[in-house]
Amino acid sequence: MRAHYHQPEQVQSAIASWRKAGYAVALVPTMGGLHEGHLALVEAALESHDRVIVSLYVNPTQFAENEDLERYPRQFEDDSAALARFGARVLIFAPETLYAEGHATMIVPGGAALPLEGVHRPHFFQGVATVVFKLFQAVPADSAFFGEKDFQQLAVIRQMVRDFTLPITIHSVPTVRAADGLALSSRNAYLNATERKIAPLLRQVMQACATQARAGESLEAAYEVAKARLQEAGFGRLDYFCFCCPQTLEPITELHDDSRLMVAIWLGDTRLIDNESCQKLCAAQ
Ligand code: PAF
Repeated sequence: MRAHYHQPEQVQSAIASWRKAGYAVALVPTMGGLHEGHLALVEAALESHDRVIVSLYVNPTQFAENEDLERYPRQFEDDSAALARFGARVLIFAPETLYAEGHATMIVPGGAALPLEGVHRPHFFQGVATVVFKLFQAVPADSAFFGEKDFQQLAVIRQMVRDFTLPITIHSVPTVRAADGLALSSRNAYLNATERKIAPLLRQVMQACATQARAGESLEAAYEVAKARLQEAGFGRLDYFCFCCPQTLEPITELHDDSRLMVAIWLGDTRLIDNESCQKLCAAQ
């Protein structure tokens, strides 16, 4: 099995010795259940860093009581095997917990954390900001890599790094998609065969909506067409489907190339999220 660390002190002493050797170190924070999207983060990190620490930790504070903490995929052996292709420059940090007994302090992000997920999963970004802050302390890397799949999360983390002047550089990597367009996610494993066939339609509807809006259709009218198509296809509750400002994540009224179409929708018992810039959606049509 791949060499891995369980204690922050072990990673910190490894990083201290790498620093002496002049190595650049990157962190790729994950909750495990690794797929090609995570591996693209590792690949990107390796391009500019000598050592990459991949953290595998299912963070309990970002799940509400009614959410999927228990069923979230935990597959340490598979994750470790998936990272083997990168060789000895990639190491694992898999802490048993990051919360000591009696832990009682949380980071409560405002700004970019408030719309969208902030409305539908109000606990979520507190949990993410807190654990990412803890990970940055446990693994004092030069850089950290996050996927654009969780675009609002990326904005919240950038905001936290800026607000607290944290000594780490944040890099983002575009969403990796299956050949049929579905954004890769550990939660795709929850989809049954029928749902898996329906799921890629989300991306097609996003593309059609962007094209329609860019051609001059009102945003509201384009959203209505999209919602009707999704409902017809068998999707369930729509939490949000709107173009937003890529920095504030607030819904916009005037479309720009970098406006981000942000979506969260249920398919059976699985909540799918996706996002893309208007420009990229229209180019892919
Ligand atoms: O994106 C994720 O997998 C998680 O939200 C993160 C950043 C690892 C924090 O638990």
